[in-house]
Amino acid sequence: MTIAVNTADGPCTTGFEDLYLLNNSIPELDIDEIDLSMTFLGRQISYPIIINAITGGTDRALHFNKCLASLAARYNLPIAAGSANITIKEPESKASFEIIRQMNPQGLIFANIGAGETADKALKVIKLMNADALQLHFNVPQELAMREGERNFKNVLANVAEIVSGCPVPVIAKEVGFGFTRETVEKLYHCGVRIFDNSGKGGTNFIIIENHRAGRLDNEFENWGIPTAWSLAEIAALKLPITIIASGGIRTALEAVKALTMGANMVGIAAPFLKKYVNEGEESVELYLNSFIYRLKAAMLMTGAKNIKELTSKPLIIMNRTAEWLKAREIDPLIWAKRS
Ligand SMILES: Cc1cc2nc3c(=O)[nH]c(=O)nc-3n(C[C@H](O)[C@H](O)[C@H](O)COP(=O)(O)O)c2cc1C
Repeated sequence: MTIAVNTADGPCTTGFEDLYLLNNSIPELDIDEIDLSMTFLGRQISYPIIINAITGGTDRALHFNKCLASLAARYNLPIAAGSANITIKEPESKASFEIIRQMNPQGLIFANIGAGETADKALKVIKLMNADALQLHFNVPQELAMREGERNFKNVLANVAEIVSGCPVPVIAKEVGFGFTRETVEKLYHCGVRIFDNSGKGGTNFIIIENHRAGRLDNEFENWGIPTAWSLAEIAALKLPITIIASGGIRTALEAVKALTMGANMVGIAAPFLKKYVNEGEESVELYLNSFIYRLKAAMLMTGAKNIKELTSKPLIIMNRTAEWLKAREIDPLIWAKRS
């Protein structure tokens, strides 16, 4: 946790800097009528923001999770717990996960476990938090960078299909900062997954974090992965009947609005909540969220969109390296520019 707090985003960017929304000089809107609410997993959510998977296991994590779960309850936001793999080996660590449900009895809570874990373990972690959905994380580069990490990544697709078929709640396939490609999403779609968190490159960088943890100085793979905006564009262009969560380096409301305009249904944010909590204290987390929400409304108003649905028909101009990437992947960047 401490290393993550002290590790900067990047060094690559998310690609959102290549995306431009059009200024609407005559929006004919009052900021108070901007509606950020949406339906997710059949529930009404106040804002399109997920407090994404961060931590669990330690005493410090318990206090942090308590703070985040209380925030999620007050703002009616979904919240994901960190990976609960640890609770299988260390049952005493369960309290730091259970606290999330205790603080947020009615809220949308996601349990989280590795995509290679067994269906039986998945059921246990769902039960632990009475979770409404299960995030399955995919983190191959991180595992390879960890001394104690996994080295065998065979049979993951079959495992995911088994978890999905026996899972009492929806399954969310989730990267951890390296970005899903459209090919990965298609494969997981055929396994029955319908919700995807692309968690691309440009924010939290687990190569740098794990190298630091292992005391290694080289960061040969620090640029590995697909920037969040590129990955999101690939997945949105598939036009599958799926729910898309954009995450990985979403730091500003403008980036969130660009993601929603590009085709994300929601955005996920992880490291900023942790950094605010550790560096500036519990109250700063709520201040950060409040200001983010105001700026979300401001950015929507400036495009002339009253709600999230209207955003999805606003033109989005894609330039520079993001446009080049899309062309190289045979996706026309003008798909987004031609909307009106
Ligand atoms: C300290 C820390 C711990 C994390 N632990 C998990 C985890 O247990 N499971 C998971 O799926 N993602 C985990 N993540 C990844 C985040 O959920 C997210 O996908 C990634 O950090 C990119 O988002 P960000 O740039 O907003 O941080 C963790 C992130 C941080 C910063």
